[in-house]
Amino acid sequence: MESMTSAHLCNFLAGAATVAPISTRRRRANSFSVQMGLKEDGPSLAVVGVTGAVGQEFLRVLSDRDFPYRSIQMLASKRSAGKKLTFEDKEYVIEELTPESFDGVDIALFSAGGSISKQFGPIAVQRGSIVVDNSSAFRMDEKVPLVIPEVNPDAMAHIKLGSGKGALIANPNCSTIICLVAATPLHRHAKVLRMVVSTYQAASGAGAAAMEELLQQTREVLEGKQPTCNIFKQQYAFNLFSHNAPVLSNGYNEEEMKLVKETRKIWNDPNVKVTATCIRVPVMRAHAESVNLQFEKPLDEDIARDILKRAAGVVVVDDRVSNRFPTPLEVSSKDDVAVGRIRTDLSQDGDHGLDIFVCGDQIRKGAALNAIQIAEMLL
Ligand SMILES: NC(=O)c1ccc[n+]([C@@H]2O[C@H](COP(=O)([O-])OP(=O)(O)OC[C@H]3O[C@@H](n4cnc5c(N)ncnc54)[C@H](OP(=O)(O)O)[C@@H]3O)[C@@H](O)[C@H]2O)c1
Repeated sequence: MESMTSAHLCNFLAGAATVAPISTRRRRANSFSVQMGLKEDGPSLAVVGVTGAVGQEFLRVLSDRDFPYRSIQMLASKRSAGKKLTFEDKEYVIEELTPESFDGVDIALFSAGGSISKQFGPIAVQRGSIVVDNSSAFRMDEKVPLVIPEVNPDAMAHIKLGSGKGALIANPNCSTIICLVAATPLHRHAKVLRMVVSTYQAASGAGAAAMEELLQQTREVLEGKQPTCNIFKQQYAFNLFSHNAPVLSNGYNEEEMKLVKETRKIWNDPNVKVTATCIRVPVMRAHAESVNLQFEKPLDEDIARDILKRAAGVVVVDDRVSNRFPTPLEVSSKDDVAVGRIRTDLSQDGDHGLDIFVCGDQIRKGAALNAIQIAEMLL
């Protein structure tokens, strides 16, 4: 488990001209591990938004999984151009993102916000790159697969690396990924008719600057000072509030509607009923979600627990005797989504309802890891 004082958060906070090396920790932990990443026959990569919370996690995940690559373009805004970054013992200079950045790039991992994806995604595709995009820019585009590898890998089966043709693949919203990694194995067994999601979302979901602001505010409040509110318009430390996404005319905010619409697309079920309430809580990293499910067929809680124990990407933490269940701290920097509080919903008839509590690291599984699993399926 990593705490908020971990090395990578310090990198974000330091604002140094040199971004600290990635992967030293992995190799220290296992001094016999062989560095596999850099390979002549691997694809050429571009990481767009490499200095951000997700961009930095892309590098950690690439390294942790020995993702093969023959070259990597480290791309960010003009502000970061010229800064140096060490990745797997090699020094890179961060470059400003331009259309030419994609020449000769096989796979481009995007995490620089929706407007950058809208502007540069199609350019990258035109130049032959397969774009895996973390923003919401293309998620609801019918022609763009929206993929969670454990859930709907077939949606991207038609996209092939080396065909010379560029393509777009969208990474779902982080809350959707975490929710569906847990809910889909149960859905496959008993078919979800209705899902009610309540989220407890961490600072990291709003990027590196929001994490920094939560730390700063915490210090300020403890010192009796007025908290600095640049990222969110209200005090975040020692507080919680409705998600900062814009509120729509139907009263839902955009984050909540992403859960509704993306679930329907990923499950290929326009009739599944989904409602959500998304809340920002003063947790540094990793989201938690309470998920209530209503099924077409009965599903006993013990069977549900067994299904979840066997599910890919899921770890069950469900110790009623010790009152020990998933926490954001315990899933931070972990790949798996933790599921607990697995219990029959007393308010529903028979075994047609279930409550679960889910925690997942949304920078990792909710963004970088999911995208790199998608990239792995292209190899
Ligand atoms: N954080 C999460 O948990 C999460 C989860 C899922 C999806 N996402 C999505 O991933 C994207 C990035 O999120 P984040 O949390 O990593 O944000 P972040 O920490 O604020 O990082 C933003 C990145 O975008 C780059 N950027 C900004 N303007 C740019 C420009 N004009 N040209 C090129 N690069 C530019 C920044 O580079 P500079 O440092 O040079 O400004 C930085 O590398 C967003 O679309 C977000 O919705 C985030």
